[in-house]
Amino acid sequence: MALEITPVTPVVGAQVSGVDLARLTDAEFAAIRDAWHRSAFVLVRDQKLSDDDLLAFSRRFGELDPPPNQERGRISPPGYPDIYVVSNVLDDKGEPIGALGAGEAAWHTDMSYLDEPPDASMLYALELPASGGDTWFCGMQAAYAALPEELKAKIRGRRIKHDGTYNSGGYLRQGVDPTDDPHKAPGAWHPAVCVHPVTGVPALYLGRRRNSYIEGYTPAESEALLDALWAHAIQARFTHAHRWRIGDLVLWDNRSTMHRRDPFDATARRVMHRTQIKGSARPVAYAA
Ligand code: SIN
Repeated sequence: MALEITPVTPVVGAQVSGVDLARLTDAEFAAIRDAWHRSAFVLVRDQKLSDDDLLAFSRRFGELDPPPNQERGRISPPGYPDIYVVSNVLDDKGEPIGALGAGEAAWHTDMSYLDEPPDASMLYALELPASGGDTWFCGMQAAYAALPEELKAKIRGRRIKHDGTYNSGGYLRQGVDPTDDPHKAPGAWHPAVCVHPVTGVPALYLGRRRNSYIEGYTPAESEALLDALWAHAIQARFTHAHRWRIGDLVLWDNRSTMHRRDPFDATARRVMHRTQIKGSARPVAYAA
């Protein structure tokens, strides 16, 4: 079957079919990389990937970032330190084999609390609950394009603090002191609007809501402005909920998307393996 690319929604996502990610030609890889840049996330269904296949495909995009520090540190399958396990499953000692449990994961951009966040992340579905656990994607380029001029003016030239204290499941990262003060929290400052280094398209770059702060405003002004920006960004017209099937691989561009996850039945099993591609540069401010 020949490679085919179809949009997932008019504003975000592309589905690529007719490929085996374990046996990709250079031309197929180039088409997937281009779709990822242009559509912000790429879905490829019906894959059968070993951890080695997942790593080999991931490394075609560049060097990998180690897994994020989560509530129990960095959890990887034995022998695969560059793979991060997202799972609620417990091992035979009753310890979680992965991070984030079965609860909701709030909207976020992966590891934006680093100075150089990963360019991409990908998630591969190995075991799934019968319902729940959908992963949602938000197209931040479309959100910026439709942002009212008044809000654009309020964030022009500003930076936002991205928190490294809590993960998207609301858990404290291992070894980090709890705080709800954005100025004391570990994290990174990034431009509120960033330009995509390949396509040149601007995107709203919010990262995550908790402990966020917009420079140059009082805490109350910053909170009000963040509330307005978030309410705008996560409207249904910019988002898509992905219902997983085993063998799905989703690759997303952290420079132009946020994602979140629905909760699911904690007694069901959900096992996902994730990699992240190291950032090629610090996020670059959009000069409007
Ligand atoms: C993640 O934020 O990478 C986890 C998303 C998910 O579990 O679907």
